[in-house]
Amino acid sequence: MKKTILFVLVAVAALSVIACSKKEGAAEGAAEVVANKDKPLVFFNRQPSDPTTGAIDMQAMNWNDKTYYIGFDAVGGGAVQGQLITEYLAAADPAVIDRNGDGVIGYLLCVGDVGHNDSIARTRGIREALKTWTGSPDPTSSQEGSAVVGGTEMKVVELEGKAMTGMDGSTWNANAATDAMSGWATKYGDQIDMVVSNNDGMAMGCLQASNYPAGVPIFGYDANADAVEAIGSGKLSGTVSQNVDAQATATLQVIRNLLDGLTGSDVYEKGITTADQYGNKISAAVDYRANEKALMAQNAAVNAANWENYKAGARDNGIKQTNAPTKKVLLTLYNSADNFLSSSYLPALQYYAPLLNIDLTVVQGDGQNESSCVDKFTNLGNFDAFAVNMVKTNSAMDYTDKLKY
Ligand code: BGC
Repeated sequence: MKKTILFVLVAVAALSVIACSKKEGAAEGAAEVVANKDKPLVFFNRQPSDPTTGAIDMQAMNWNDKTYYIGFDAVGGGAVQGQLITEYLAAADPAVIDRNGDGVIGYLLCVGDVGHNDSIARTRGIREALKTWTGSPDPTSSQEGSAVVGGTEMKVVELEGKAMTGMDGSTWNANAATDAMSGWATKYGDQIDMVVSNNDGMAMGCLQASNYPAGVPIFGYDANADAVEAIGSGKLSGTVSQNVDAQATATLQVIRNLLDGLTGSDVYEKGITTADQYGNKISAAVDYRANEKALMAQNAAVNAANWENYKAGARDNGIKQTNAPTKKVLLTLYNSADNFLSSSYLPALQYYAPLLNIDLTVVQGDGQNESSCVDKFTNLGNFDAFAVNMVKTNSAMDYTDKLKY
């Protein structure tokens, strides 16, 4: 009997030694032993939320203790865009900007996606600044507003607002903006004194219309390279930088921290507000919002006075080559044709990922069907972590469902 007990004890001890060494092996990077459901999951650019109420989808954010969102201060950004526009008007000559001299500033509004927090915040920020906000982000809902133009208070009227949805259903569609602008130019003629857009892609789309009324001020958002150049050449009046470098780096840094085994506040502070173990730290401020499990970059107005500081190619030199162990990350982008994601965000990711020794696999959707991304969200066992940019902000479960097994 005693012998049997001794044997069992020895066997249990031996088994736990094997279990321990297996666990150590996993920590050293054997990705296959970590279940998909326990891997880091970072949402970025499209915050899991209700498209109608904007309420954050905390069920998605609490998928596991390694789930975070990386974005930027959307509401603050809307206010920055509004202020950029009112400051422009304040310095403008009423006799020049009011093209038909009727004492009314008529403007047109390009809306990106009626169910996207960023788009809603910008529509609101613009309309609040121009006092045309009715309390509803609906593209067709506005009231008569006012603004100070060159020292004189003038009436402001939103001639028309429109969600720029492509023929295929994709949102933030620049071609749809070109078509809408052609129609507007004919329909409203010299009532058009200004054009404002939820993003640069659609603003640049408007400028593509062959009958765009020459000299009419136009504002975008994103500080994409082509838009910044267009400010330099006087075609675009202003944009807002949502600091794509800070966002792309923070997305990768949080993943790096989680894969390095950091926990608690280290996950969203190391390399972000304090130097990480490799000596890296993002130069710009990125704020953590505990109630949303979100890291948010800040916005800055860009116009003729400072556009040169936002020219493409200026990367964050707070991020240098690390010797961190290589990790594999699967990253989805909702729409391969989105100007901001493909011309600003993706190049930033591709610049910083090798520095953090993150081996990125990028899959891109069509901007309209979640399946265009979800169908490529496969071979999950081959990856150490996931970064998700959804087609619809309420689709998080389509991805987490695939991580369950
Ligand atoms: C950007 C838009 C982009 C959208 C995609 C926004 O933050 O400003 O340009 O189309 O994200 O989700």
